[in-house]
Amino acid sequence: MDIKAVILAAGKGTRMKSETTPKVLHEIMGKTLLGYVLDNVKNLTSEEFVIVGHHADEVEKYVKDNYENAKTVLQTPQLGTGHAVSMVCPELENYDGLVLILCGDTPLIKEETLKKFVEFHKSQHSDLTVMSTIFENPTNYGRIIREADNSLRCIVEEKDATSEQKLVKEVNAGIYCLNWSKIKPAFSQLKSNNAQGEYYLTDIISWGKAQNLNVNAYILEDSDEIYGINSRINLAQATKMMNRRNLEKYMLNGVTIVDPESTWISEDTQIGQDTIIYPATYIEGKNIIGKNCKIGPCAHLRGGVEVCDNVKVGNFVEVKKSKISSNTNVGHLSYIGDSELGEHVNIGAGTITANYNPLTKEKSKTILKDNVKVGSNSVLVAPVTVEEGANIGAGGIITKNVPAWALAITRSPLKIMADWVKFKLLK
Ligand code: UD1
Ligand code: CA
Repeated sequence: MDIKAVILAAGKGTRMKSETTPKVLHEIMGKTLLGYVLDNVKNLTSEEFVIVGHHADEVEKYVKDNYENAKTVLQTPQLGTGHAVSMVCPELENYDGLVLILCGDTPLIKEETLKKFVEFHKSQHSDLTVMSTIFENPTNYGRIIREADNSLRCIVEEKDATSEQKLVKEVNAGIYCLNWSKIKPAFSQLKSNNAQGEYYLTDIISWGKAQNLNVNAYILEDSDEIYGINSRINLAQATKMMNRRNLEKYMLNGVTIVDPESTWISEDTQIGQDTIIYPATYIEGKNIIGKNCKIGPCAHLRGGVEVCDNVKVGNFVEVKKSKISSNTNVGHLSYIGDSELGEHVNIGAGTITANYNPLTKEKSKTILKDNVKVGSNSVLVAPVTVEEGANIGAGGIITKNVPAWALAITRSPLKIMADWVKFKLLK
């Protein structure tokens, strides 16, 4: 059966206290919150609708630039989560499949969980399934209220809950699966007579019950997955949770992480076996790291980086959008950006690829072919190519292409003045 996703991303995110960035575009290790949700749902769905409102232009641009099957739908004004979903009704007028609803602010949800959730929905012949979980501290989440026979009754928001309801630890994860044609009528019947004066999506549960539809809850065991980001404190906590999950995956695959407490590696990084990641290393965005590499301590990979096998990226080295071929060393204190490094290249300490021209505001590439050796403290001013086997003398400022097997040297001659100290300073 066809599945389409609706992702709610129009809210203001008041509790983030951000003037410049809409909540769903805040990042965890180089990827936006919305990006995580889209990436984890897109393999299950034929089309995704992102509901945008606050900072709509930015969110729209982000979606357009990064997700070709996703469409944005504008919600103005933002009258609540139920109102948000109702915005897709015209788009899905004759649609008869499943709709998966998610929030753009719960980035930890996994693709395999969503798969199981949809399977559960189908196996129960459910018309509407809501994902729930148990939180020791359920504050701020909607509570799942059940009947005496344990079947669902409704969801009550924190602000509308009685003190007795507030004790309930089963919460609404904000993820729903619906048989669209059966639940669609609910969206023209939601009311806003609640503490926040909003059209609550959560009210589709009691609506479905009143219509005698088959309404179920799927209880998620790993409650971490639906951790929602409402504040910067949540953002830091989610980053930690995501990181721990990623590091465990890498370690189980044969990567040594010397100090998991101080190492950060994004979900979209692949790492080969027997690679060692030393402490205080930060790896964000999409990267591929080969086998038997040594990364760090204190290395920073900023995304778009491909590191082949047996490569060393040492301390205080920053790499961005570059390929480093096998058996190459970038040992110390270097910046490698928009570059291609061949095999058996050696980069001396303090080497910089100057990839940005402030006059043209353009970034250009640095290409170093196999066996190139770059002396310490050199600057490679891009665009520039150093052909195979060429050497750059220490302190070189390389503004022109260097032919194969040549030596390029830009040093002024060394002057040594005998006894200068004795005569000038000590007399
Ligand atoms: C919501 C649920 C709550 C659940 C929690 C899980 C409702 C009424 N409450 O609460 O039961 O436990 O998520 O995380 O649904 N949004 C819009 N348009 C709007 C309002 C919100 O697109 O008009 C979007 C927001 O951008 C956000 C999502 O919907 O991505 C959830 O909104 P938020 O205000 O964070 O709801 P919660 O209070 O967390
Ligand atoms: Ca939320």
